[in-house]
Amino acid sequence: MSFLSRRDLINQAAAYSLLASRKLLSQAGVAGPHEDPDAPTLFGFVDQLPIPKLLAPIERRKFRAVYHVRMKESLHGMHSSLPQAKIWGYEGLYPGPTIEAARGERVEIIWENSLPEDHLFKVDPHIHGGMPPTPAVRTVPHLHGARTTSESDGLPEKWFTPGKSVRYIYPNEQQAATLWYHDHAVGITRLNVYAGLSGLYLLRDGEEQSLSLPAGDYEIPLVVQDRTVDDKGQLVYAPMNDDGVPLAPGIWGPEFLGKCPVINGKICPYLNVEPRLYRLRVLNGANTRFFDLRFNLARRAADIPSLLMFSQIGSDGGLLPKPETKRSILLGPAERADLLVDFTGFEGKTVTLMNNAAAPYPGWASMGMHAPRLEELMQFRVVLDRKAVKAVSKTVKVGAPTPFIRYSEKDAVKSRDFLLVEQMDQQGRSLGVRINEKGYDDPVSEVVKLGTLEKWRFINTTEDAHPMHLHLVQFQILHRQGFDYPQFTKGNIQPVGEERLPSPGESGWKDTAIVLPNEILSILVKFEGYTGRYVFHCHMLEHEDNDMMRPYLVIP
Ligand code: C2O
Ligand code: CU
Ligand code: CU
Repeated sequence: MSFLSRRDLINQAAAYSLLASRKLLSQAGVAGPHEDPDAPTLFGFVDQLPIPKLLAPIERRKFRAVYHVRMKESLHGMHSSLPQAKIWGYEGLYPGPTIEAARGERVEIIWENSLPEDHLFKVDPHIHGGMPPTPAVRTVPHLHGARTTSESDGLPEKWFTPGKSVRYIYPNEQQAATLWYHDHAVGITRLNVYAGLSGLYLLRDGEEQSLSLPAGDYEIPLVVQDRTVDDKGQLVYAPMNDDGVPLAPGIWGPEFLGKCPVINGKICPYLNVEPRLYRLRVLNGANTRFFDLRFNLARRAADIPSLLMFSQIGSDGGLLPKPETKRSILLGPAERADLLVDFTGFEGKTVTLMNNAAAPYPGWASMGMHAPRLEELMQFRVVLDRKAVKAVSKTVKVGAPTPFIRYSEKDAVKSRDFLLVEQMDQQGRSLGVRINEKGYDDPVSEVVKLGTLEKWRFINTTEDAHPMHLHLVQFQILHRQGFDYPQFTKGNIQPVGEERLPSPGESGWKDTAIVLPNEILSILVKFEGYTGRYVFHCHMLEHEDNDMMRPYLVIP
């Protein structure tokens, strides 16, 4: 690297993070009302962004690949000035190795639970499905966004214990997309994923290839999360109540908001990039936190932002029918975005990946509660040296070549309403959010017919935004609209205001969509592929774990 010495890099990092470092200083300490004076000084942007390695199959034949993935406890460096953290990872890695699959090629994965008998975190024994004698260490992997049989879906109750394994089949009969795998065990998903159990699954196809998108070193996966670490570098899981006060370990809380931004497993990293076009595969892999991402050219967070325009070419379920040029993108937990960012002409400059989302999202007016926003997530440093630039970008074609057929509301054979209501105790503390007043174990009430189109409305009566997710399907967002609250308290759902259509970036295939407070999210969903039992839920893991999840049944 010719443009900056290692020493310069450190100085530059230090200079950049005068503000950030002070922020991080308090962030690094154990969560608590008081700042820990012994908390380590963590400078931002000192570690290079790790790129999760590709997993090699144990067997590959024509149209079939077999993988063996063990869930293991291991040590992982979250930041170079911290001792290694104990984590749980697929193949002992955090995030897990990336699995690449080809459309039409069947993937079989032997998922093996090789975890220890004791959980990394204190487990709340009061949560449904997780009460003793249910073992604390239980896992079940789910491939988020994939169309699979119910048997291979990783339903929450299909958990298995250390020493056990399952063999799941992924047909990959769907278009190229940024999918991800993560733990889904009932009542404990938030802890298992927080411990490190998630990874990317990139499904590729010929259509995507025909676009000559940036590939290899120029296609960068970004698993964006938040974590809290103690002064020994260990992960701390400290959820909070609605009043913002952290709860004692082992008690369920409605939100977890980490104090450090973590990208691909590193706290506040940096990446050297060439002055050219890049493809970024972004996943919001956080438990609770929303990210409103932007690329900022300003030197410091305090300066007037100078935002780069970028292009969103894909959403959860694949390439968009029409890309969207934008300055920022909001991603709720589990949402993905496929982005093209052009660093051409920015030699010697630093682009900071910033986040502008309130935490919790979109913010509670009544509580005045707030957690750190985590403004600066990582840096892209554009190399000065033209000679270091290996390839000149070819012209890239964007827009999915497959004709995208927009569903029509009038083809929906049924419309279902889902009321999202927070349950409170006498002190007004959250006991979790329920869907239509039902919990996960209540009998199935949603029975849908294979091959039919339905309209589902999520009606959010809470003060939080919720990322609603359905297994098995990729759906389309119809619109969002407000509703009349006084009417609602009388039992009527009365939409008010304009129907807001999704932006181009949300007009493709989605498996997770945000519903804002006081809003109705309407989606059109076709139940294709398989019959059997599936689930839908809020993807804030704290909510999902505590009954904001319901089963549904697909019948012939
Ligand atoms: Cu990311 Cu039930 O899923
Ligand atoms: Cu899923
Ligand atoms: Cu939720």
